[in-house]
Amino acid sequence: MRPVPTLVAASYQRSFNSGRTTPRVFVCEDFDGNNVGEFVVKMRGSIETHEAGLLREILGNLFAYEVGIATAEPAIVRIDPELAAALTNQTVADVVANSLGLNYGSANLAGGYSTWPVGKIVPQSLKADAADIFVFDALIQNPDRRTGKPNLLWKDDHLVVIDHEMAFSFLLSIIPSTTPWLLDEQPYLRDHVFFSELLHEQVDLERIAGAIEAIGDDFWEEADSVIPNNWKGSELARIRAHVESVQQHLDVFMNEIRRILL
Ligand SMILES: Nc1ncnc2c1ncn2[C@@H]1O[C@H](COP(=O)(O)OP(=O)(O)O)[C@@H](O)[C@H]1O
Ligand SMILES: [Mg+2]
Repeated sequence: MRPVPTLVAASYQRSFNSGRTTPRVFVCEDFDGNNVGEFVVKMRGSIETHEAGLLREILGNLFAYEVGIATAEPAIVRIDPELAAALTNQTVADVVANSLGLNYGSANLAGGYSTWPVGKIVPQSLKADAADIFVFDALIQNPDRRTGKPNLLWKDDHLVVIDHEMAFSFLLSIIPSTTPWLLDEQPYLRDHVFFSELLHEQVDLERIAGAIEAIGDDFWEEADSVIPNNWKGSELARIRAHVESVQQHLDVFMNEIRRILL
């Protein structure tokens, strides 16, 4: 699994107002006081589901990376009380005060990255990545990557997934499906940002299927060791059980993807 450093938020830079949770950008430092650059921080106090949302964010990032989908480098960002005291903007000071302790961050992708434009045709060079992302979102039951709200950053031939706070949506169902590898119960897939671009296309799904199959105990054990204990609740174990049940029916799951895209 990729490393997840714990950093300290050193100075507030600005906010992103484009989404639901208004992430804040901080220059961060490691524990030796070295400046490690800007991180976009999803603040516990701005996320309705608090720690449960942070768990989904970090696990979505680590899981995407594990199956070969690009993500921004993740971090756990500690917010200390002194930071709130130093802020002149009262709104941000309030959020900081409500988010003391550990939060989820990802390295700020600057330098030409922008949000995937609404209605953009997927070029041939990105078809395989787009298909991987579609399969990934079906696996993690993520309804939050749709046209008009892509939660994808893009530059040239690079697609980077962000924002997994709504993923693993089976956690919210009162009666979760007992057959999560069957996709008729996942209607949001037809609203997925890449659905119409992948429809009727011949895309090779072998690589992503192999990567999903390869997720094993070591991934879950490492995730368990880096994720803060109070983010886990019972949900980390339930997410693992979900993924393992799909792995056990991976051929059926992949055929379901092919059927939806036929
Ligand atoms: N690692 C990152 N690098 C650059 N911009 C980011 C990063 N993470 C988030 N953003 C920006 O912040 C916006 C909101 O972030 P997102 O995680 O989608 O939060 P929300 O839950 O509010 O939708 C994104 O649309 C994007 O513009
Ligand atoms: Mg978003």
